[in-house]
Amino acid sequence: MATKLSLCSVHDFTISFNKFSKTHRRISHLSLSPPLKSSSYCFSNNISISTRSKGEASLLVSHAVKEDQGIQTSKENQSSDSNVSSSKLVLVIGGTGGVGQLIVASLLSRNIKARVLIRDPEKAKSLFGEQDENSLQVWKGDTRNPKDLDPAVFEGVTHVISTTGTTAFPSKRWDGDNTPERIDWEGVRNLVSAIPPTIKRFVLVSSVGVTKFNELPWSIMNLFGVLKYKKMGEDFVRNAGLPYTILRPGRLTDGPYTSYDLNTLLKATAGQRRAVLIGQGDKLVGEVSRLVVAEACIQALDIELTEGQIYEINSVEGDGPESDTEKWTELFKAAQTQ
Ligand SMILES: NC(=O)c1ccc[n+]([C@@H]2O[C@H](COP(=O)([O-])OP(=O)(O)OC[C@H]3O[C@@H](n4cnc5c(N)ncnc54)[C@H](OP(=O)(O)O)[C@@H]3O)[C@@H](O)[C@H]2O)c1
Repeated sequence: MATKLSLCSVHDFTISFNKFSKTHRRISHLSLSPPLKSSSYCFSNNISISTRSKGEASLLVSHAVKEDQGIQTSKENQSSDSNVSSSKLVLVIGGTGGVGQLIVASLLSRNIKARVLIRDPEKAKSLFGEQDENSLQVWKGDTRNPKDLDPAVFEGVTHVISTTGTTAFPSKRWDGDNTPERIDWEGVRNLVSAIPPTIKRFVLVSSVGVTKFNELPWSIMNLFGVLKYKKMGEDFVRNAGLPYTILRPGRLTDGPYTSYDLNTLLKATAGQRRAVLIGQGDKLVGEVSRLVVAEACIQALDIELTEGQIYEINSVEGDGPESDTEKWTELFKAAQTQ
């Protein structure tokens, strides 16, 4: 059974606990490492502060991003995003992974509420620091276990993004039978079966090459079935009747920033590789920055024409769309008319 963990302050605990379903065990206030450190950033005066911890996070995130031209592009975009997105609650599965953690950090910086379902909640503490429950909710769960995906996990959730995965070849990360078959096929099937039909968008991160897993060079990558199982996961999504978007990245670059905290995470940049290439039909081959994939996932939640579509995505040197929704819309649209 999924377990919800509280990252909220102690005085919130009693109220939240009473509201919380009796069937779920909520673990009391976690002693967290200090939240965002402010020493190297100055505050902007254009961001509203609703609660102390959330306000601190917003201010710091805003400035960190502005300074480093990282995940978000500008304060103006941020404030308009937060207005537009205030009603969203985005469930991120795989939120501790390379792409997933960038998605969560970016949602936080936009004031979009996020919920993560992760196997090890300690990782959320070290990555995202102390966050108000209105910003980030942490649930413990494993997609291989259908019981961890019971309806309470989706309560209030408007959008779902899944970035789960493991290594293509046997590694320590397969320990405990956490293999591509179990994650990319069974886990995705379990997740999709549990998502309520009221969801506005489900975004799945898959991979280029899934339609060609029997052909060289993809057959090498597929020696242990990763592409085959991702394709099975995709097919299940396509037939589930949910409003979906599937993104197939090329080889991922930048990160994973696995030992970073939120502040450092938001300073990560896509380097020179910011221009985005989007295709359809599994023809695109190349590399893509994890930051670009994270941004594509967030953009796809709202861009209507991406519903029911599958896209390959790469990034190359040059200026990119950053977080400009109009530019992303054009990119997705152009891919569909190619
Ligand atoms: N690497 C590449 O070049 C490449 C290329 C194309 C596509 N992709 C795909 O792109 C996606 C994102 O890549 P990434 O680099 O962000 O992956 P990643 O860093 O390996 O992250 C995978 C995430 O999945 C979670 N996860 C694994 N097993 C789980 C389970 N049983 N239940 C719940 N969560 C589970 C992991 O959590 P834990 O921390 O608990 O393990 C982690 O948060 C993946 O699907 C990957 O296969 C990768």
